[in-house]
Amino acid sequence: MKPRLGVVGAGSMGAQIAQQAALHGLDVMLHDQSEEQLRRAAASNRGHVMRRVEKGKLTEADAESALDRVQMTSDLAEAVGEADFVIEAVFEDLGLKRSIFAELDRLAPARAVLASNSSTMGISKIAGATALPERCVNMHFFYPVLVMDLVEVVRGPETSDDTVERAMAMAREMGRTPVLINKEIDGFIVNRILHAATQEAYRLLDAGVAGFEDIDTAVEKGLNWPMGPFRLGDFSGLDITYNARLHMFKTTGDERFRPSAQLEAKVRAGKLGRKTGEGWYKY
Ligand SMILES: NC(=O)c1ccc[n+]([C@@H]2O[C@H](COP(=O)([O-])OP(=O)(O)OC[C@H]3O[C@@H](n4cnc5c(N)ncnc54)[C@H](O)[C@@H]3O)[C@@H](O)[C@H]2O)c1
Repeated sequence: MKPRLGVVGAGSMGAQIAQQAALHGLDVMLHDQSEEQLRRAAASNRGHVMRRVEKGKLTEADAESALDRVQMTSDLAEAVGEADFVIEAVFEDLGLKRSIFAELDRLAPARAVLASNSSTMGISKIAGATALPERCVNMHFFYPVLVMDLVEVVRGPETSDDTVERAMAMAREMGRTPVLINKEIDGFIVNRILHAATQEAYRLLDAGVAGFEDIDTAVEKGLNWPMGPFRLGDFSGLDITYNARLHMFKTTGDERFRPSAQLEAKVRAGKLGRKTGEGWYKY
């Protein structure tokens, strides 16, 4: 029998985590406190799944049953009461995540694994809100979940081997590739390597070694990245890139993380990338 999955938070991540699992045959309960958000999640998932039908990648019958396998509820108890596995994807707010985990501890069966999709909070910060921290783990998916194959599974100091194995198995069951991170560390693996490479690109720019277009071209053609660091920054939002660096710089005091002067100037000028029509490039 496939594990029953509860997903808490139906925003950009939670909606697609639920749909990805359902596309692989799992029964999913998707919860959000907002009915409006649940409606938006259902409509957005329908759009994504039906595009696969249009492209001939999925039959209409398979699409409809994958959509039906995600049940929406604004009642948390209903969402997790019979779950074998819960993935939390609410706002990135520690107090909120701890209060959700305290509720999950009470409402989900004791056998259920409780996973958080947090990008920055190690599970040890959250698991203390539960009576069974050994069943808590980070499962870090990537946006957009329906496209991005990787899941970083990060164990906390109290996470049990059984929980780790079940998180790895759940990622595979959902058609995703898990990697295991044995120690809690800021940025996990991917964001750490991305930040290091991006920081180096900014250092080269600030030192006048090359222009941003040439740095992007070098990385795209020489390393085969689909987007160079400046194009990627425009795509994700330069405010997000800037704030991530500022956070790392403030929390570690390490000069390596100091945000680039040229990046700061872009953010001050409101040139945040695609979403404002201009960042490093014009759109
Ligand atoms: N967006 C990304 O690129 C990305 C990538 C990896 C991980 N994450 C992580 O995923 C998590 C969610 O991010 P997102 O981008 O989907 O956020 P989002 O803002 O799109 O969605 C968050 C959802 O949580 C719901 N929510 C808030 N409080 C709730 C409560 N008490 N009970 C039930 N639902 C509640 C909101 O209504 C909203 O629908 C965060 O921890 C984030 O760090 C995000």
